[in-house]
Amino acid sequence: MNTNHIRTIHGGSSLQGTIKVPGDKSISHRSLIIGSIAEGETNIEGFLYSEDPLSTADCLRKLGVNIPEIKKDEPFTISGLGLDGIKEPKEILNCGNSGTTMRLLMGLLAGQEGKNFILKGDTSLNERPMGRVGKPLSLMGGKIFGRERGNKAPISIHGSKLKGCFIGTPVASAQVKSAILLAGLKASGTTSVIEPASSRDHTERMLKAFGADISIRGELGRNIVINSGGKLIGQRILIPGDISSASFWMIAASIVPNSEILIKNVGLNPTRTGILKVMDSMGCNYEILDKSTIAGEPIGSIKVKTAKNLRSFTIEGDILPKLIDEIPILTVAACFCNGISEIKDAKELRFKETDRLKVMARQLHKFGAEITEKEDGLIINGQSRFHSAEVDSETDHRVAMSLAIASLLAKGGSKIIRANAASVSYPTFWEDLAQLTN
Ligand code: S3P
Repeated sequence: MNTNHIRTIHGGSSLQGTIKVPGDKSISHRSLIIGSIAEGETNIEGFLYSEDPLSTADCLRKLGVNIPEIKKDEPFTISGLGLDGIKEPKEILNCGNSGTTMRLLMGLLAGQEGKNFILKGDTSLNERPMGRVGKPLSLMGGKIFGRERGNKAPISIHGSKLKGCFIGTPVASAQVKSAILLAGLKASGTTSVIEPASSRDHTERMLKAFGADISIRGELGRNIVINSGGKLIGQRILIPGDISSASFWMIAASIVPNSEILIKNVGLNPTRTGILKVMDSMGCNYEILDKSTIAGEPIGSIKVKTAKNLRSFTIEGDILPKLIDEIPILTVAACFCNGISEIKDAKELRFKETDRLKVMARQLHKFGAEITEKEDGLIINGQSRFHSAEVDSETDHRVAMSLAIASLLAKGGSKIIRANAASVSYPTFWEDLAQLTN
């Protein structure tokens, strides 16, 4: 990443206008992966044209999947190989910065009998924990190896015969759950996963739409059961806008004085809308319009106006997986609420693209924020007055965008170093920011 990529943001401008955020990152990855192992064609519209999903496309091409060149804002069609058609690649699969790519592919490839695969990532991804996926896959009979006793990439997979298992995941992670479900498609018999709290369920929804024998049971919490043996049939997938990308504008318009914006076509899957609950408790002024459902996912438009006297909030427990990627921008929001906000039970944030608890506290301090870092969260003293600062994304896309919103609240011009990190999930973020603050 080019460390010299600096953006200067001037505080003071309000946000006005209408915007359509880019496609959902989680659904974009899944559309390619599930489309690749389906029979027949899958047509994809609304795909997120950004570094992470393009890493997934690149890996799948190396596995023999016919994916055309993907162009921004253009629908495309992929021809699936079926469950057994994946080829042994001649090259290492490079997952870039994308945890979703690496973890979901581990699940997909573990059961490809007799074929060998090597997966690597960038400096950040190679330090993230992969044992959380490797261990359950090993219980199913998978042969997964990596640095630090299998926990870190580069990861090597020797595809083998898997058996269905009953697996309780220790962390509520959609990536771990999805890897197990994808492995379950090739395992003998039934694979059953229970997670400690509900994480995003796009994989379950999409596998069902493609015809997988998958069901959700509730006796012991959220239990997902998948049976192998069926066929997946290619589908047409319409990908809604990403609520995690919309959240930067939802919070910006709430806290920057005199703002009023409309964000169109946002995915509102209930496993992703934790941020709306927090905005309710803060007393934000927003409305959901034009609710509908596309391709099994609820969507709507979100109208947000500035709200005065925002209340402090506490985030803890089962809501965490429903707003896991929104913690950086909610930390910025907390700086502008009345009173002390607290984020608890958020240790998972330490295993993201960066240690987001540490990095957000470190960078927001530079604006004058009062934040105390705890082992599993943050305590944020609200009503901050931000002064301009030179801050650094530390290569994390969500940190870069959160710091850009924080800069709008600072007096004067602030500089964001390594601002290009945003292209991992939102390449047009800076253009959209310029449009809304014009
Ligand atoms: C994702 C799951 C979450 C999220 C990530 C995308 C997914 O990660 O933070 O940005 O697409 O499944 P975890 O599964 O590690 O919680």
